Amino acid sequence: MTPSNRIPAGVWNAIDYERLAPQHMEVGRHAYVAGGCGWDRTVAANRTAFDRWAVLPRLLRDLREGHTRLTLTGLDLPHPLLLAPVAHQRLAHPDAELATARAAQATGSGLVASTLSSCTLEAIAAASGPARWFQLYLQPERAHSLDLLRRAEAAGYRAIVLTLDASIQLASRSALQAGFTMPNDCVAANLAPYPPMPATALADGESRIFQGAMRHAPLWDDLQWLLAQTRLSVWVKGVLHPEDARRLQAAGCAGLIVSNHGGRSLDGAPASLDMLPAIRAAVGQGYPLLLDGGIRSGADAFKALALGANAVLVGRLQVWALAVAGALGVAHMLQLLTEELHATMAQAGCARLSDITPDCLTPATPC
Ligand SMILES: Cc1cc2nc3c(=O)[nH]c(=O)nc-3n(C[C@H](O)[C@H](O)[C@H](O)COP(=O)(O)O)c2cc1C
Repeated sequence: MTPSNRIPAGVWNAIDYERLAPQHMEVGRHAYVAGGCGWDRTVAANRTAFDRWAVLPRLLRDLREGHTRLTLTGLDLPHPLLLAPVAHQRLAHPDAELATARAAQATGSGLVASTLSSCTLEAIAAASGPARWFQLYLQPERAHSLDLLRRAEAAGYRAIVLTLDASIQLASRSALQAGFTMPNDCVAANLAPYPPMPATALADGESRIFQGAMRHAPLWDDLQWLLAQTRLSVWVKGVLHPEDARRLQAAGCAGLIVSNHGGRSLDGAPASLDMLPAIRAAVGQGYPLLLDGGIRSGADAFKALALGANAVLVGRLQVWALAVAGALGVAHMLQLLTEELHATMAQAGCARLSDITPDCLTPATPC
C-alpha cells in the first residue's frame, strides 16, 4: 500500500486513527498489530475495563492555571502520555520508528524505543527529543544484553524499561487466520550484530515450553545483575501481581509499568486497569507507576490516572496513526489525546494531575 503522510478528513478524536488504519495497512499486518494472543480475550478486557468507570463532572472550579506537566525519572514532560515500546514499526510505515521519534520530539512526549525496532536505537535517538527511554529484552547471552545497555547509555537514553512478560507469546488467532508472516524488511535492527543462539534439541519428555522457550527466560538474579550494571533508572514493564510489584520495588526498580503487553502474552490475563488499584496499594503513594493496555482516549488516560497511574503509554494507537499519516499522524494523535485529557480534567474540575483521584470516578451503568 502507498504510504501516506497526510492527515485524512474525519480524524476528530485520537481513536479515529484506529478506525482508519485498515484502509492503510495490508490485512495480515493489521491483524498482527491488532491481535493479542489466543482468542484476544485480554485485548477485549483491556477496553471493557475502562467502560466500567465514568468520570464525575464538577462545577464552578477555577481552572485557569490548569496544566498536565509532570516529572518522571528527572525528566520534565508536558503531559502524562508516552509512546509505548512497539516492535517492527516498518509494518505500518516505511519511516517506522524514525517517524514516531520525530512525533515524540515535536510534541515533547516521552518515547520508549523497543529492542525489536526496525531502526537502530542509535538512529531513533538521533531523531527523538531528550525524553527517550530504551526498552530492553534480556538476550540469552549476557554479553549481548550488556552491549545493548551500553549502546542505549551512549545514545543518551534516560531510563531502561525491562520487559519481563513476554518470554513466551502465543500467536493471535486472527493474525494466523490472516496468514501473517513477518516481511523480510522488518528485521530487529538492534540485534543484527549478535549471532542467534544455536537451537538446542529437546530430550525425550522435555517440554517445548519449560525446557524450550523458557530456557533463557530472565530470573530474579538477572534483574539484580542488570541493576548492578547501570546508573540509569530501571523500570520493569509487564507487572500485574501486587506481590511482584512489592518485590520489584524492594529490589531497587525506579518504577513499574502495569501492563499485560496489550493482551499479547497471556490470553485470560486480567485487564491492566483492573489490577492497578491493588498494585498502587501494594507499592504505596509516591512510587512511580505507569499503565498501558487499552488507552484510546484522553478520558481513558484520566481514568488510569484516577486509579493510581502517574502516566500512561499508548501502544496500538501510535501504530494506527503511523500507518494513516506517518510522523504527522502520530504527532496529531498525541495532540488529540492531550486535548481530550485536558477536556476531561476541565469537566472533572481538575487543574493538576494531582487533583485526579479515585473520587473523580463512579462505576458506570452498563448500556
Ligand atoms: C505490534 C506490537 C508490538 C509490541 N512490541 C513490544 C515490544 O517490543 N516491547 C514491549 O515491551 N512491548 C511491546 N508491545 C506492547 C506495548 O508496549 C504495550 O504494552 C501495549 O501495546 C499496550 O496496549 P495498547 O496497544 O492497547 O495500547 C507491543 C505491542 C504491539 C501491539
